[in-house]
Amino acid sequence: MLYQELIRRKRDGQRLTPAEIAALVQGMTDGTLGDAQLGAFAMAVVLNGMGLTERVALTEAMRDSGDVLQWDSGPVLDKHSTGGIGDTVSLMLAPALAVCGAVVPMISGRGLGHTGGTLDKLEAIPGYNTTPDLRLLRQVIGMTGCAIIGQTGQLAPADRRFYAVRDVTATVESLDLITASILSKKLAAGLDALVLDVKCGSGAFMADLAQAKALARALVDVANGAGCRTSALITDMNTPLAPAAGNALELLVALDFLTGRAVPPRLWDVTCALGAEGLVLAGLAPDTAPGRKMIDDAFYSGRAAACFGQMVAALGGPRDLLENPTTYISPAPASLEVAAPHDGVITGHDTRAIGLAVIELGGGRRQPTDRIDPRVGFSDILPEGTHVTRGDTLARVHAADDATARAAAQSFLAACQIGGAAAARPLILDHIT
Ligand code: URA
Repeated sequence: MLYQELIRRKRDGQRLTPAEIAALVQGMTDGTLGDAQLGAFAMAVVLNGMGLTERVALTEAMRDSGDVLQWDSGPVLDKHSTGGIGDTVSLMLAPALAVCGAVVPMISGRGLGHTGGTLDKLEAIPGYNTTPDLRLLRQVIGMTGCAIIGQTGQLAPADRRFYAVRDVTATVESLDLITASILSKKLAAGLDALVLDVKCGSGAFMADLAQAKALARALVDVANGAGCRTSALITDMNTPLAPAAGNALELLVALDFLTGRAVPPRLWDVTCALGAEGLVLAGLAPDTAPGRKMIDDAFYSGRAAACFGQMVAALGGPRDLLENPTTYISPAPASLEVAAPHDGVITGHDTRAIGLAVIELGGGRRQPTDRIDPRVGFSDILPEGTHVTRGDTLARVHAADDATARAAAQSFLAACQIGGAAAARPLILDHIT
């Protein structure tokens, strides 16, 4: 099969057969499909979409492009977000689910498009190995119940390559490609159950509720069809979920959350809601109310924090990261406050613009091979609904130098909406089963 012929047919809006899709995925995996061809195929799918049979074929071929894990104990449970800004939930939830009795092999991704990635946040920890071999992965999970890692060469390698090309070719926002990408990794990890956080709003890939619902429906149907008990919460992404955007800065928020030093209310609510839902799907709680209590206890007792600390140490990071984060996470050289230009109420953020500003600062990638600077981004982001007076600090920029800090401060200012009154917006917008 000639790849350019398959790309041409997709470009012209035709359907591909499962065998043709499998051939393209084989080419992604063995490298015979070049980056230009992969980018062109992705764009053809973005523009013309896929039918259900094509979507399932793409998901299954990408799952089977590497190993599919099997576990002796369980239930094997995971959570996945479709991507947002300040979304540090995975860092806290993986250990919380583990201490509630789940086995959590959390295969996570890097930043994608304007959104941050869990792996990039973890790589801000010196020594943390995001790509352990299967022996170490099993050992860490045996010791702690969870491991947040990246796709090793053996897990869904087709997605790893496709993801990197989509990240820099404006081909992320596709229901078909997001479904195949998320589920190929998750299904390759051998899950019994999966709870999805489908983000909706200015910082999400699906900006409006109808699109987010369609994505949630596609993910839930394909995952359940593949034998993994799955449901989704659709949650608001019209403002950063944590008061920070940027890899090390978000990691610090997660460490403060786990230790109870500072717990942002929106982050707490989304984390606990997803946790309760996951425990029900995994059969560890009969309903979300007792599930919620189990998750609360995991955090309040400090057991989730201890589990996270053990996981970090087992994967090569420092043993006292939770107690002494600033010993290991160095600040960016330049920092600048973003001052409110006038009095008012913060009515929301152009969250996507904040994510793009983090990329401009060097905290995300322009090319798949780019190295990122984990130190840069925004911290102390005031939440929606805050009354400010002129001169108040809306956020703090962290940058490699003063000039980029000033440019980022301008971008943040343009992305921060200050008006007369903030409309109350629900945090959890829907529940798709
Ligand atoms: N997360 C993924 O893993 N893949 C996507 O395509 C989008 C979000």
